[in-house]
Amino acid sequence: MQLLLMGPPGAGKGTQAAELVKKFDIPHISTGDMFRAAVKEGTELGKKAKACMDSGKLVPDDVTIGIVRDRLAKKDCAKGFILDGFPRTVEQADALAGILEGLNQPLTKVLNIHVPSEDLIERAIGRRICKSCGATYHVKFNPPKVENVCDECNGNLYQRADDNEETMRNRLSVYEDSTRPLTEYYKKAGIYLEIDGRQPIDKVTEELVNVLSSVKD
Ligand code: AP5
Ligand code: MG
Ligand code: ZN
Repeated sequence: MQLLLMGPPGAGKGTQAAELVKKFDIPHISTGDMFRAAVKEGTELGKKAKACMDSGKLVPDDVTIGIVRDRLAKKDCAKGFILDGFPRTVEQADALAGILEGLNQPLTKVLNIHVPSEDLIERAIGRRICKSCGATYHVKFNPPKVENVCDECNGNLYQRADDNEETMRNRLSVYEDSTRPLTEYYKKAGIYLEIDGRQPIDKVTEELVNVLSSVKD
């Protein structure tokens, strides 16, 4: 099963991908997570990505397409994958179509988690992430049992550098300009479905799992 999770910043792509990984046992490929790992390691890729991420702009297409091409060629993707945060431009979507054609693994479904923009800033500002295992929390909507401590591994929680109001506004406007047009792109392909992301986290998961359980691959 080759899935694409779409949706604006803070819609719940990463949160839902973590649940779908448990359910379907296919890898989660998040370009944002890959860039953050590269920033942490101080690699050349990390240096290129950091300035763009901190201001809420997109990392250039050639850089982003290259890392996804390499990742999709890895063995664990042969049984399927969940793309999160890629593609974000028409150029990236065209490149992905070419990569997947070469792998003979066309997209099975494009699931767009829809959340109105007025909810998204609160989601981003309240987000907390575990330093050790990457689990995602929210101070109000999904708090850990002990403040700032991960339920899964007892790791400390941190806030992403781009989860402030100013950068978030830029991220939302970049989404509207560059990424929203992709909904039309995938509607035409006949594999697109919209999910109401304003429901509680477990309800969104339930809806996604229901849709995917009826998909034959
Ligand atoms: P990326 O890391 O992909 O960020 P994003 O797209 O802005 O999305 P987020 O990770 O912020 O949101 P999410 O949808 O995963 O939400 P989450 O589940 O965490 O990209 C970061 C940057 O990297 C980009 O700005 C760009 O610079 C660069 N980049 C990445 N990909 C790129 C590409 N393809 N091309 C170029 N540049 C690229 O949930 C958010 C919060 O809400 C959490 O606290 C969660 O607990 C809470 N929450 C989740 N679901 C619910 C719910 N149903 N109800 C209430 N709260 C909820
Ligand atoms: Mg995410
Ligand atoms: Zn943890």
